[in-house]
Amino acid sequence: MSDLKVPEGLLSRWQRIFGDELKDFLEAIKTPLVPSIRVNTLKVRVEEMISLFSQRGIDCRKIPWCPYGFWIYGCEEENIGNFWEHFVGLIYVQEPSSMIPAEILNPESKDKVLDIAAAPGSKTTHMAQIMENRGAIVANDINPKRLKALTNNIERLGVVNVCVTCMDGRRFGKILPSSFDKVLVDAPCSAEGTIRKSYKAIYNWHEWAYKKLSETQKALLISAFKATKPGGLILYSTCTFSPEENEAVVSYILEHYDAETEGIDIPGIEVSEPILSWNGEDFHPDVKRCIRIYPHKNEVGGFFVAKIRKLSF
Ligand SMILES: C[S@@+](CC[C@H](N)C(=O)[O-])C[C@H]1O[C@@H](n2cnc3c(N)ncnc32)[C@H](O)[C@@H]1O
Repeated sequence: MSDLKVPEGLLSRWQRIFGDELKDFLEAIKTPLVPSIRVNTLKVRVEEMISLFSQRGIDCRKIPWCPYGFWIYGCEEENIGNFWEHFVGLIYVQEPSSMIPAEILNPESKDKVLDIAAAPGSKTTHMAQIMENRGAIVANDINPKRLKALTNNIERLGVVNVCVTCMDGRRFGKILPSSFDKVLVDAPCSAEGTIRKSYKAIYNWHEWAYKKLSETQKALLISAFKATKPGGLILYSTCTFSPEENEAVVSYILEHYDAETEGIDIPGIEVSEPILSWNGEDFHPDVKRCIRIYPHKNEVGGFFVAKIRKLSF
């Protein structure tokens, strides 16, 4: 992970995004993340799991924003995937910032939830855990291959309140209008925030991708908005830094639909300010309630989160 060559175009965008913090950011992305897990309380108690690990000399340190999330010291991520505890679904290997959306959306056990882009199921299984396997989650993805991983994870973790669908998420607003209490849009994105894990996002980088991704993200968020009951909650998240895929998408919804953002409070994490204008466009002022999470300020990958309340149709 040391010979990092960032394309000029991407570097100059990051300069505009991170400003004085660019050096720290570039340094941080060369450092691999400490592996982390979510203990699956549908199958095991947290204390039991921690004690099993400590008997083997594995040190678990609490992730402050998730009651069952832990950083794991004393073994590699590849090894965790081979533990019997992983095979039988007592744990799920999950990056700490990816634990934020389900914790913020916080679905109740009576809720009907839509996870519009769900594969491979990190957040679906996390929400099922919060709901104690009650209520109902529709977990959808457009990609059948990725859905296979989702169904495997659902089965492995003992999740029983999920119905899996394979369709274009952009259709939900039309076929199931005002149907869900809570909707998660963990959008397909350019994944710049994942580079502490892999440099793929850098090697596959193309400037033109932002426009296409932003269009898909807007369409998914519009569909999610329509599928949510009035008064219901939508959580929009990406693991990327580009304003086109983050603030611009949220701003579009606030400008065209009866929705408002809500403040987000996450214990134990340093959040960064959202970007309020980009390439000559000023975003809706309520975008200021969205949060950015940066890998040089926390032991996590990069993330963007917006909490959106649907007011009326
Ligand atoms: C960031 S990943 C989701 C990760 C997942 N939420 C998790 O936590 O494991 C984005 C997903 O969006 C899916 N996707 C892309 N376009 C879509 C569309 N139009 N409708 C539904 N899913 C879509 C991709 O197949 C991909 O699995």
